[in-house]
This record gives sequence, C-alpha cells and structure tokens, in this order.
Amino acid sequence: MANKIIFATGNQNKMREIREIYQDLDYEILSMKEAGIELDIVEDGTTFEENALIKAKAVAQCCDAVVLADDSGLEIDYLNKEPGVYSARYMGEDTSYEIKNANLIQRLEGVPKEQRTARFVCAVAAVFPDGTNKVVRGTIEGYIGYEPQGEHGFGYDPIFYVDAYGCSTASLEPEEKNRISHRGNALRMMKDELKKHENISCK
Ligand code: IMP
Repeated sequence: MANKIIFATGNQNKMREIREIYQDLDYEILSMKEAGIELDIVEDGTTFEENALIKAKAVAQCCDAVVLADDSGLEIDYLNKEPGVYSARYMGEDTSYEIKNANLIQRLEGVPKEQRTARFVCAVAAVFPDGTNKVVRGTIEGYIGYEPQGEHGFGYDPIFYVDAYGCSTASLEPEEKNRISHRGNALRMMKDELKKHENISCK
C-alpha cells in the first residue's frame, strides 16, 4: 500500500494539480475531506510560510500521514507588496474579484510598466510523521496590466500578465498555467523531500 499524503485544502483545482505533479511518486494523495478531517484553521501568520506551516501542523495533529498545506497570494511591488498574505481578504472576503482587480488597476493609474512588477507567491509546507517539517516557496514573476484580460483561472489572474506570453494568466489554458505557476513550482520543489520520506513514512 502506498504512503499517504493529505493535502490541507478543499479546493478541487489544487487537488487536480498536486495529483498531476506527484503522479510518479509512491503516494496516495487525499484531500482533508477525503481523509475525514474537518478543521477550522485560523491563518494568523504574517508570512506565506508561517500560514502554510500553521495549516500543515494543525492537520498533522489529526493523522500520521505526510501533511502538505499551501498559502499563496499576489505581491505588487509598487504597493509595498500588497495584497500579499491578505490576498483572499483584500477589500473583504465577500468582495468580488472584478471589484478587487479594478481597484488594484486604479491604484496603479499612471504607473509605467517597469514599475508595475508583481509576483504570485506560494509557500508549501510539509509535516512528516516523524515530526520534522519543510517549507518551500515558489513564485512566478509578472506585472499588473492596464486592464483585466482572459476567462480562465481565478482571483487576480485577469490582471497578472507574464512577459514571456504577453498576456494575463487568465488567458492561458489551465495546463499551461500550472506548468509555470507559483504553486506548481513550489510543489515541484517539495518533490525531492517527499522522495526522501517515501519509504520511512507510516503506511
Ligand atoms: P489561498 O492560498 O488558496 O488561500 O489563496 C489566496 C489568494 O491569493 C486567493 O484567494 C487569490 O486571491 C490569490 N491567488 C493565489 N494564487 C492565485 C492564482 O494562481 N491566481 C489568482 N489569484 C491567486
């Protein structure tokens, strides 16, 4: 029987992405729900890394599998890295991304392209059954466009443009975005660590 990874998320897109990236590892990958774990976790860290580790540690207390958790967001350099760890909560959790994106574009009014640099950041934390942990950070660099563009993705994708493609990440097919995304990069970075634990985790 394969080792188990529990990914501390309820997001099906993230589950699809992690399963694709780790398909060659000898792990069965379960969401929290699939593992029967229900928790309300307060993410009160001040960095992506802290929040990811808070989530992973909370879930690890409920099981003896490898637990992974992520925390992500958008950093805009001109706005002192806002919205950062508050990306989901920016302007209120219930405010639509149409409004949040329009607001960020407005705050950058008149700012030239060179100063509109931004990145998506994703920290992925792993807590292993032996009590050790590891946190990695993946990023994708880009800039905030002058108008929203594209129908794919979610959140800030319509305003986040990548130079290599000359379009927003909302204009990329999901597979293409996953190939270059902050979360994909962080999950790929964690792969070696998971391989090291493949044979010593609880079965
Ligand atoms: P979480 O890590 O899933 O809680 O995501 C935090 C927030 O960051 C999301 O609600 C989005 O606002 C933003 N975010 C994170 N990753 C992306 C992305 O790939 N595209 C667009 N927005 C993102």
